[in-house]
Amino acid sequence: MRSSIFLFSLLAGLLALATTSEARRRLSRRAVSTSQLVYPKVRRVDKTWSYPSANAQGNVTYSDPYFWLEGNASDPDIEQFVKDQNAVTDEYVKGCKGKDAITKSLTQASSYDKYKFVQQISSINEGDEPFYLYSLVKTGDQPSVWYTASMEEWQSAKKNNFNSPPGKPFLDEALLSDDGSQSILYQSASPDGKVFAYLVIGNGEVGMWYFRNFDSPLTQAKTKPAGGEGRLNDTLPLSADIPAWLPNGKGIFYPMTVESDAGTNPDHGYKIQYHEWGTDNSKDITVFDAANAGPHGQGSWYFIQTSPDGRWLTVSGYYEGTDVNMTSYATLLPGQEISSNMKWISLSPDYDFPMYAIGVIDESYYFQTDKDNAKNQKVSKIKLDWSKARQVKQFTELQDRPEVIDVIPERKDASIPQFSTWVTATNKIVVLYIENGQNTMYLYCAITGKKLQQLLPDEKLIYGEFQGLPNSDTMIIRYESWNTPSKIYEFTWEGDHLDTSLATIRLIEGTNPDDFAIEELYATSKDGTKIPYFITYRKGTKRDGSAPAWVHGYGFYALIDNLFYAPNYFDFLRSYGGYFVWICARGGGDLGGEWHDAAVGVKRQRTYDDYLAVVQDLVRLKITSPGNIILEGGSGGAMAVGAVMNQAPAGLLGVVLPVRGPLDVIQFELRSAIGAGNRAEFGDVTTPDGFDAVFAWSPLQNIDPNKEYPAVLLTPGTADERVPPSYSYKFVAQLQYDHPNNSKPLLLAVVKNRGHIPSNVVESIYQLCIIEESLGISRVTA
Ligand SMILES: *[C@@H]1O[C@H](CO)[C@@H](O)[C@H](O)[C@H]1NC(C)=O
Ligand SMILES: *[C@@H]1O[C@H](CO)[C@@H](O)[C@H](O)[C@H]1NC(C)=O
Ligand SMILES: *[C@@H]1O[C@H](CO)[C@@H](O)[C@H](O)[C@H]1NC(C)=O
Ligand SMILES: *[C@@H]1O[C@H](CO)[C@@H](O)[C@H](O)[C@H]1NC(C)=O
Ligand SMILES: *[C@@H]1O[C@H](CO)[C@@H](O)[C@H](O)[C@H]1NC(C)=O
Repeated sequence: MRSSIFLFSLLAGLLALATTSEARRRLSRRAVSTSQLVYPKVRRVDKTWSYPSANAQGNVTYSDPYFWLEGNASDPDIEQFVKDQNAVTDEYVKGCKGKDAITKSLTQASSYDKYKFVQQISSINEGDEPFYLYSLVKTGDQPSVWYTASMEEWQSAKKNNFNSPPGKPFLDEALLSDDGSQSILYQSASPDGKVFAYLVIGNGEVGMWYFRNFDSPLTQAKTKPAGGEGRLNDTLPLSADIPAWLPNGKGIFYPMTVESDAGTNPDHGYKIQYHEWGTDNSKDITVFDAANAGPHGQGSWYFIQTSPDGRWLTVSGYYEGTDVNMTSYATLLPGQEISSNMKWISLSPDYDFPMYAIGVIDESYYFQTDKDNAKNQKVSKIKLDWSKARQVKQFTELQDRPEVIDVIPERKDASIPQFSTWVTATNKIVVLYIENGQNTMYLYCAITGKKLQQLLPDEKLIYGEFQGLPNSDTMIIRYESWNTPSKIYEFTWEGDHLDTSLATIRLIEGTNPDDFAIEELYATSKDGTKIPYFITYRKGTKRDGSAPAWVHGYGFYALIDNLFYAPNYFDFLRSYGGYFVWICARGGGDLGGEWHDAAVGVKRQRTYDDYLAVVQDLVRLKITSPGNIILEGGSGGAMAVGAVMNQAPAGLLGVVLPVRGPLDVIQFELRSAIGAGNRAEFGDVTTPDGFDAVFAWSPLQNIDPNKEYPAVLLTPGTADERVPPSYSYKFVAQLQYDHPNNSKPLLLAVVKNRGHIPSNVVESIYQLCIIEESLGISRVTA
């Protein structure tokens, strides 16, 4: 059994040390009574569903008494439900004696300069000086401010670890709306480096793309019109995807969708449009229409790219339930007038295999794929053969299947997660691998497929963001880890030599990453599989079972979701003398494609077996003890902790925190906007076998009325663009109905105007209050 300890000694020299005293947890147990808690009465309705089941050899019928909570959020009864539930939670939290200290400490743990989207913008025009662009949040979760910095400003800021942000503010997101609800989701700079394009979203709704010149900043404003004062008149309507510029700056291609009807219309109806700069949108030209792309065209999502030299436009689409199999086409722009009947070639005409576009290099289309059973993914290419080009009425008439050539073959010992390959710096490809459960990055030559070098070989556990445009000779990697909120590295080509430098490291004042340690351990799951997990703790923390442990898990979509920085996690770790634990459950990508496939679809229960195995291992090793365990997960992870809570023996878990979870998996899959897209992953309830598998664990349908439950706090967001908050409403209503006298609280805190990704100090305060009160613990460090 391998057990590794990573200590971040590298960071020591850069720290402003303010040591905290040795963590010693106060063992005094305050008995917190929940007997005063009276849960709101919630109306039950006579609603049943019936679905084909393989086990029953016919339909299974079950009742859904809180179905009405899935209705329109502005229904007065639903508003009242939310109000009543929040009132109970607020009342409970009022009794939390540590609240002020929690608030102060959490605020401090989220006070570091949050640099994001750090990139170098270079112009295709000779002689134009490149510059830097990034967004910055200075404290808490304020709106982002975008900055631009000259080469000189950037270099001098690097010398002093970004004492102050390099350059000057360019766009303050607070000025995009009166109520601060609008923010930038995606952005893109024009190839000449003159224009900034930004997609604005708010309240869970995708808005429009707006444009402004980099020399026309938005840093103060009298009015707050959509897109902000001083923007260009051009806009791109209804497009949730990145547009593709023509390098000559004359125009831009963009994917346009139909109205989504508040997320309920599954017909995307994509049109790929061309907008000529400075003209009215009514003159935009449709170059590709999903209505002409076969039976799945209308239901597919499309994205587009232009090659860095502007010669090629590629269009790729996929629809739900095909494992992201793509159908792709390309057109050669020089020599053709942009119109609705251009000539095209097919690259993959019929959703033949998954292909995540990387880009066009040297007249070949590069993509990431698991074609030919390459479960760990590889990079392949298709030669763009213009001799096959034709004008067609229906895109399905294009049936050429050009040869697929492997460039970077699959590795059996490491896997590439989805969307983790990038073209950069002329003919180079950066590939992110998961090796031994950790992220590593390598640079390859796109032409020969040769591995050139590893990036940051000494830095493990990367969780971050890559920026590096094909026409730039600079790449930037920003990453974070559980004890270090942000590190930004810059790579610059000097001829054949890649110069690597640390641009800045951001730390939480008063804490030293070196005070903490990490170990990898393995639990044995129900079927004998060894499940890796990481424990992090302050050095010297006892292993006599007295410490509390906060356990975080995910286990979906072949992703690794661990070892990132979150203020609530880190504050727990530093303040309570406890352990923070990261489960690498099957269904995630921790040990490659097979690790995901082992728990996908009808095998999903294995994810929950793995969670339980890890939790029980923590008790066996006296890292913690029954009742001292906080189990938390977000999104799919919230669904997992809901399932595990139902299955765990009474008394094992102390607090369960499902964050933004689809806790009624059946109705989520059948009735929510993105539900169908999750069927393959969770188990497809439209098939009899899939229904049985999901029905056996779906959290709402498996609440045990005869078992004492741990403390539960659900935190759905009202602007969640992926998981409607109603699944948390229904779950808490049933839990409270079955357990009116549970000795631990069963609570809902509805988070207003927040989307799927939690980033909010307020909800973390609730979490830590419930943890303190339910476990009877308090802070041991200042
Ligand atoms: C069985 O379930 C399906 C799907 O919900 C439904 O269409 C059908 O009417 C049901 N059959 C019976 C006999 O209830
Ligand atoms: C929800 O109700 C509000 C107010 O009655 C209404 O404006 C809105 O269109 C409704 N939304 C949906 C999706 O029906
Ligand atoms: C933008 O539109 C406004 C109103 O139609 C017009 O007055 C203004 O000149 C336009 N600006 C540019 C740069 O075209
Ligand atoms: C997706 O592609 C794979 C090949 O990689 C193929 O086996 C599978 O049938 C395709 N799925 C669909 C729905 O076409
Ligand atoms: C909960 O407690 C109340 C008051 O003691 C009691 O009347 C009620 O029967 C209990 N309910 C359950 C389900 O145990």
